[in-house]
Amino acid sequence: MINKVAVIGAGQMGNGIAHVMAIAGIDVFLKDVSEAQLDKALNVIETNLQRQVGRGKLSDADMSAALGRIKPVTDDEHLPDMDLVIEAATENEEIKKAILTDLSTKLREDAIVATNTSSISVTRLAAVTDRPERFMGMHFMNPVPVMQLVELIRGIATSEETFESVKELTVRLNKTPTPAEDFPAFIVNRILLPMINEAVYTLYEGVGSVRAIDTAMRLGANHPMGPLQLADFIGLDVCLAIMQVLYEGLADTKYRPCPLLVKYVEAGWLGQKSGRGFYDYTGDEPVPTR
Ligand code: CAA
Repeated sequence: MINKVAVIGAGQMGNGIAHVMAIAGIDVFLKDVSEAQLDKALNVIETNLQRQVGRGKLSDADMSAALGRIKPVTDDEHLPDMDLVIEAATENEEIKKAILTDLSTKLREDAIVATNTSSISVTRLAAVTDRPERFMGMHFMNPVPVMQLVELIRGIATSEETFESVKELTVRLNKTPTPAEDFPAFIVNRILLPMINEAVYTLYEGVGSVRAIDTAMRLGANHPMGPLQLADFIGLDVCLAIMQVLYEGLADTKYRPCPLLVKYVEAGWLGQKSGRGFYDYTGDEPVPTR
């Protein structure tokens, strides 16, 4: 049974994964190269736990216990003790491969490694490790504390034992596991990202304004967020990276990233995290930019 977990990368996904592990009573090391990023992540986790306390979903005691289970680290001393390491670094294949190669030398032989990649081939990432049979995809959704789903992706070499251990852990986290085959972007992003990309084309071609497109999909299709608001929430760089994986991996022009999405990323307009995307977040309320 998996009881000791390390999460590599304290960004949006890494902090959410540490949050849900800690609430489930699992000790978790949260590793990042940057102390400042770790401080930021702990603040975000505390704010999100507080939000759950405020809504009566968690007691104050549960919150303190959860915070006590999260250990921020910048070194690797904890690694030989881990049952599972989840890689949640930025969605860049070279960075992920460098982390996974380095991990191989530092883990116990029976430890499992999972990647939270949202689109990259699990089999290709597994190939740089020393343990493809104990490697798989564990794809959480954002915001992790709220979203019910975890996609579980087997690489070609993933053993049944590995898959079952990670599935059992997912259930312990109070999440619903869904198996997906190792094809570009798996299930959720294979369907969701082309919709978001199409929303950007709809804006690009002048069919509707940012507000019109988001209102149309919220009220016309009952989506909790409009597609452009959701793109800003996911991060426009992440959206573009996933579209590129689909475009290249499936070799079909229907996945061509919208030029406007490319331009926004080139401008550094990455959505909520950079203060500007399809909305401007610098004031009290988000303001549409087109
Ligand atoms: N941590 C903890 N709790 C949170 C939270 C967080 N980060 N964000 C929201 N919540 C909680 C709120 O406290 C609230 O709790 P109650 O139900 O107990 O009241 C609940 O979630 C709803 O939040 P709000 O009332 O503040 O706002 P909302 O009703 O607008 O919901 C939302 C916010 C849950 C984010 C909702 O807008 C939503 O579901 N949006 C779509 C999210 C989505 O599609 N995510 C998937 C992105 S794709 C992905 O992640 C894959 C990938 O690889 C790119």
